[in-house]
Amino acid sequence: MPFTRALCYLSSLIILNACSPDSGSPDDVKDITDPELYQFTEVDIQFLKRFSISQLGEPPASISNKFADDKNAAQLGKSLFFDKSLSKSGNFSCATCHQPTLYFTDGLKRSKAAGTTRRSAPTVLGAAHSPWQFWDGRKDSLWSQALGPIEDVNEYDTSRTAYVRKVLQKYANEYQTVFGKIKLDFIKQLPEHASPAGNEESRNNWQSLDKKTQSQINQVFSNTGKAMMAYQRQLQIPESRFDLFIETLPTNQPHRLAEIFSAEEVRGLRLFVGKANCASCHNGPLFTNYEFHNIGAPDPQDQTVELGRHEGVKSLLTDEFTCLSEWSDAKENECAEMRFLKTNGTELVGALKTPSLRNIAVTAPYMQFGQFDSLKQVIAHYNRPTPPVYNREQHPSRPHFDIMPLKLSEQEALALESFLGTLTSPLPKDDPWWGL
Ligand code: HEC
Ligand code: HEC
Repeated sequence: MPFTRALCYLSSLIILNACSPDSGSPDDVKDITDPELYQFTEVDIQFLKRFSISQLGEPPASISNKFADDKNAAQLGKSLFFDKSLSKSGNFSCATCHQPTLYFTDGLKRSKAAGTTRRSAPTVLGAAHSPWQFWDGRKDSLWSQALGPIEDVNEYDTSRTAYVRKVLQKYANEYQTVFGKIKLDFIKQLPEHASPAGNEESRNNWQSLDKKTQSQINQVFSNTGKAMMAYQRQLQIPESRFDLFIETLPTNQPHRLAEIFSAEEVRGLRLFVGKANCASCHNGPLFTNYEFHNIGAPDPQDQTVELGRHEGVKSLLTDEFTCLSEWSDAKENECAEMRFLKTNGTELVGALKTPSLRNIAVTAPYMQFGQFDSLKQVIAHYNRPTPPVYNREQHPSRPHFDIMPLKLSEQEALALESFLGTLTSPLPKDDPWWGL
């Protein structure tokens, strides 16, 4: 961005017409070689407005978590999210892999804590708006999702009893303020490690506990997830240059628009919603439809073929903490997502949840295994995809493949890449929920 334009961009946040054609220098005016490029029809403007962060609104109401919008729960959730002492080694927290300064990602192909995870860490920004969590959607809520990393050997590597004991020792007051008074004595008699999801010893210890104690543990365990969900619902995405451009569109002043987007960025935007077809999946204020698609990103050599949603739905059917479970605050007939779950079909094979493209230029690497290091590589894939070969034994039938080669020119690919760079928001240093 030339300096004058950068200045206009900054000042336009304060005084909206600081960069109107009248106040621009003759140099600025010369900048626009193609004023038509900056002209958008009323229909275009209305369509593009749907991508503005200002249209996002609150996350959908949670039926399975009645504490979802409780501020005290969110405060406790924030403490839990950043607290390393709750992991087995005392070295890892959620923020190890979801770092605020990296827009709640970790910059790695595959995440590292107690071990190495199978897939890459997506951001948690915007996750509160998604009906499903994880690349394969194997969780139906943020609270249920949050319980996974705690017992995962590659992540916290701890157990249900150890975690619950630590939380109640450290956060007894905060916990009881949100979830009500409980008798804390039961934690004294618990085995060091016990869980129905742990190793053999841990599972045996779990079996030796009476039903009432198991139930007390699960209650606290699921409530910690509900607090972390409440926390993640508070995370806001600040406006990016893209949002400013969309807000400025109705003024119909090419010169003002040119202060915000370069010609290449506008060409990229036009490709994104047009010829390159990206917006058919990456749409709305978060640039995702939150649906599952197979775009055939190549599987790394050391990985088994990605079955995606096909596996995700199987996990959901046996998950202990879904909307239909006893730990959910929903009535059974309210859990429509789970009751009408699509459990088979070729379109599920290899299909992954469309990720948000907000802040995408600063959250490499890309795709579920971090297969691509750069946006150039991502766009090259969409341009000429090489879908993975599926072994007949690994999937029921030929999977559905959801993209077509785009055959963009080199220049078009570059324009698309520039456009993606406009989706980066400034880090909000004064937003306490981000914890920067
Ligand atoms: C060791 C690194 C690591 C730790 C620790 C970790 N995560 Fe993650 N997180 C990941 C990875 C990897 C994925 C994607 C896994 C998959 O889809 O199979 C993920 C996925 C998620 C998602 C789903 C986002 C989406 O769009 O689908 C959320 C939400 C999330 N983590 C929150 C948390 C919370 C809350 C904690 C702490 C309790 C946590 N994570 C701890 C690595 C980590
Ligand atoms: C059919 C739906 C669909 C279309 C069309 C589509 N995408 Fe995607 N996109 C996805 C899915 C699903 C993923 C995750 C796939 C994976 O991890 O293997 C993804 C992943 C990405 C990622 C990586 C995100 C991350 O956090 O790792 C980028 C960048 C991206 N798409 C950009 C684009 C661009 C640019 C276009 C247009 C050229 C486009 N997409 C078209 C569905 C789509």
